[in-house]
Amino acid sequence: MTQLSAAQNAQSAQHQSSDGSKALYGGKSNRRITVRDIALAKDRGEKWPMLTAYDAMTASVFDEAGIPVILVGDSAGNCHLGYETTVPVTLDEMTMLSAAVVRGTQRALVVGDLPFGSYQEGPVQALRSATRLVKEAGVGAVKLEGGERSHEQIRLLVESGIPVMAHIGLTPQSVNAMGYRVQGRGEEAAQQLLRDAKAVQDAGAFAVVLELVPAELAAEVTRVLQIPTVGIGAGPETDAQVLVWTDMLGLTSGRMPKFVKQYARLREVMGDAVKEFAQDVVGGTFPSEEHSVH
Ligand code: KIV
Repeated sequence: MTQLSAAQNAQSAQHQSSDGSKALYGGKSNRRITVRDIALAKDRGEKWPMLTAYDAMTASVFDEAGIPVILVGDSAGNCHLGYETTVPVTLDEMTMLSAAVVRGTQRALVVGDLPFGSYQEGPVQALRSATRLVKEAGVGAVKLEGGERSHEQIRLLVESGIPVMAHIGLTPQSVNAMGYRVQGRGEEAAQQLLRDAKAVQDAGAFAVVLELVPAELAAEVTRVLQIPTVGIGAGPETDAQVLVWTDMLGLTSGRMPKFVKQYARLREVMGDAVKEFAQDVVGGTFPSEEHSVH
């Protein structure tokens, strides 16, 4: 496994896309990305982007833009379904949203999140829940939270032919127990995070999300693992980066976590457009002749 510098990474990504090869972002293929493509990207030292999506139309925009991996996160709870946390999200809801995202995409690997309560009982419950996401929604992989504590679930899913993305560090389904705090600070917590990372890799996970952990620790995990790390609030050294789409495009209201970079202000754009429409209706200028039939 070769470790490349940031400059070498950028160069290699450019090279891969300009010769039309297999780069996850910028490469050309008219088939779905698979977990094997993800493994090969780590071997090449290639970085890649991942976004969440919760509906077909938004997912199709990301797919057309070349995002190689789309996560139907249970962040749908806060960002799509109007819950305060991810905890109330159900497997029925995740199945419906995941199916929509699969229908809206052609190239991206779609990863469906297993919601709270759908896998904590043990491997058999996890297999039953993951099977629904694969068979009914058509996802190519599932994600679940937990390191050492979830390794038996991961092992059975992988043995059963279901690729698993693990998720360690801050695990929002445990908000009632851990809050939304940085994880892995201090020697003992850092060692636990390393043990969690190795446990999910040994159990067969094809990638692992590192949420809200110190950048230096995320870099170390990325160095010691053979599987790719996907950072969110985990600094620049992870193999991939994920953001919640409503945060990165500025649709979410209120204060953003420090790790979110907003690339657009959709809330303002949409609000302004809606007000213009309302004023046109109230003022009688919409519909005009142009938008009328006779
Ligand atoms: O549910 C989600 O969107 C997630 C990402 C933040 C990784 O788990």
